Amino acid sequence: MATTLRWLGHGTWSIETAGQTILLDPFLNESPTSPVKADAVEADFVLVSHGHFDHVADAAAVANRTKATVVANFEICEWLTKQGVKSTQPMNLGGGIDLPFGRVTMTLAHHSSVMPDGTYGGNPGGFLLALEDKKIYFACDTALFSDMKLIGAAGLDVAVVPIGDRFTMGPADAVEAIKLLAPKRVLPAHYNTWPPIEQDAKAWAARVKAETKAEPIVLEPGGTIEL
Ligand code: NI
Ligand code: MN
Repeated sequence: MATTLRWLGHGTWSIETAGQTILLDPFLNESPTSPVKADAVEADFVLVSHGHFDHVADAAAVANRTKATVVANFEICEWLTKQGVKSTQPMNLGGGIDLPFGRVTMTLAHHSSVMPDGTYGGNPGGFLLALEDKKIYFACDTALFSDMKLIGAAGLDVAVVPIGDRFTMGPADAVEAIKLLAPKRVLPAHYNTWPPIEQDAKAWAARVKAETKAEPIVLEPGGTIEL
């Protein structure tokens, strides 16, 4: 069965694979660019990369309504449990777990992580999803780091990287990241949500084409690709 990847704006993605829906970093109701509200998304699993509001904002509401299992670091799972979330899969950097759709590994991210109420949010992370026949890496919020080469050694079908600059790597470092990750295809995220992270994704895609072997795919919020 084909896997589809839908961008819901900012750092939010919906992945359909093996009959399961995975929602990454749900930031919907308060997002200026999300095409859907939190009460209209489906999820069997909700993945949360770190504690910032623009990644965790709707996690509890979606998980509570859909009965989805939350996959996040230990501290975020504890925090969401206090918000009524019944099912969690706590993990931490470098660890992997096997779920019905495949294996999820929490990867390094150079960023920060505190919950919206000031609670310590553990370490920020990214996610490597090893699905039945595809490997997808979500860098999530991070700076460029050379260990991306190790993540790329897994052989990536798709990488999703931030290009917004200011809070994460920007377009130039995102091109360097792609050289290290060497994915077949790459999609940009975490840009054009607000003026401080405005970027020209088309210009970035032209650089990716010229300087790397990856195929850049620029979606509009709500846009989908099939893997
Ligand atoms: Ni963040
Ligand atoms: Mn963010």
